Amino acid sequence: MAIMKVGVMASGRGSNFQAIIDAGLRGETPDVEISQLVVNKPQAYAIERAKKNSIPYEIVDSETMTRDEFDKEVMKIFEKRKIQIIVLAGFMRILTPPFIDKYKNKILNIHPSLLPAFPGAHAHRDAIAYGAKISGCTVHFVDEGVDSGPIIMQTSVEISKNETEDSLSEKILVHEHRMLPKALQLLCSGKVVLDGRKVTIKPD
Ligand code: GRF
Repeated sequence: MAIMKVGVMASGRGSNFQAIIDAGLRGETPDVEISQLVVNKPQAYAIERAKKNSIPYEIVDSETMTRDEFDKEVMKIFEKRKIQIIVLAGFMRILTPPFIDKYKNKILNIHPSLLPAFPGAHAHRDAIAYGAKISGCTVHFVDEGVDSGPIIMQTSVEISKNETEDSLSEKILVHEHRMLPKALQLLCSGKVVLDGRKVTIKPD
């Protein structure tokens, strides 16, 4: 299989974006070429990471346009770069159905809970408030719902007695950074098989 051109979308810090970059530099993602970053916030730190690593980036400010306009603009950018796979790495926005359709089963998201528990923007806070004893992170395909697509990989962590949103987030982030590049490499090397909403990984 040829190397896949990957587009990354981020809204902020971009530590998951960095994890993909670093995995590439370590030679762990031979089938991945990070070809484009798109951020929807001009102040997103992910931009600095793209600059440092000479990855082309575009800022499409979501404050200044409608959801449809935003998605159309991003699709244009990705078409131009011939992007085949998209990673949402801390991208805090819902994509419209035409976007999801165009890249059906080609968009990955990383979410900081064990889905389907605690979807949405406050996963850590929600897990602690609920009294859950474990949480974790999930890499999944993006469908039209919120954090509801087929699950590719999950890792669990324990929630301790005095856990705070920050401490849980820190604990989970370590696993996000390991799992996202792994899942991306599996997808780009054609090893992720989808049957309904069940994902299996082809053995080597
Ligand atoms: C991560 O916790 C990710 O799971 C969630 O948003 C956070 C983004 O962090 N979707 P970063 O921007 O990758 O550092």
